[in-house]
Amino acid sequence: MSNIITIDGPSGAGKSTIARITAMRLGLAYLDTGAMYRAVTLHCMRAGVKLDDPKAVSATLKGLDLRVELTFDGPMKVFLGSEEVTGKIRTQEVTRNIHYVADVMEVRNHLVEMQRKIGENGDLVTEGRDQGTLVFPRASLKIYMFATPEVRARRRHNELKQRGVDASYEEVLEDVSKRDYLDMGRELGGLRKALDAVELDTSSLSPDEVAESIVKLAKARLKMQTRKIDKSALERARDQIERRSQES
Ligand code: DC
Repeated sequence: MSNIITIDGPSGAGKSTIARITAMRLGLAYLDTGAMYRAVTLHCMRAGVKLDDPKAVSATLKGLDLRVELTFDGPMKVFLGSEEVTGKIRTQEVTRNIHYVADVMEVRNHLVEMQRKIGENGDLVTEGRDQGTLVFPRASLKIYMFATPEVRARRRHNELKQRGVDASYEEVLEDVSKRDYLDMGRELGGLRKALDAVELDTSSLSPDEVAESIVKLAKARLKMQTRKIDKSALERARDQIERRSQES
């Protein structure tokens, strides 16, 4: 039986950074399920289908050749056929279109099946919206991570400002609220806290502090040992995550 730690929560709660630091510290692989929805969205956009037509979206699954490569010290790599699209799935256009694709039941079933297969093969920290509720209901440890919409919007607004993107805090807050509404309202695979999940409010904590809490919980519950990690690998991971979040 593999050790699976699920981390679910709304966008901007810091899941990716925290999931990656946690995975590195525990020596587990890291699965980014949002990246899978992003890749299917890019695939549909490239196929030129009407995204608001669920039948057309599910028909593109036939030609989908999605592959992910889990790493222990870097971002998960994503491929469509032989093309690596790890960076290309982080554009604002993809982000804006994801909800069409994530709402389609056939897409969700396909990705849930892929995720479960990956889970069969080993220990991992998996991050998304439905990992503890639907995909891995028997996970060893479930975390539900959140922060107030205002804190998440503030973080996002600062990121955009650093990139020179001109958007008001109010606009960003509206975007965050809209995404919460879409993610929570999704009938299948919507964002929900599993009954047995540990809730962590990241509003006033650093990613390292949150990761530390999860590592402690994992050690207590799963009798896991932390790995000694090379400080420079952790720094590299943080840099990559920062660059990535500035891209999307
Ligand atoms: O984590 P992220 O921002 O990269 O996820 C992008 C979108 O993908 C998110 O708005 C909702 C969707 N998603 C989902 O429906 N189920 C998941 N397990 C992960 C992501």
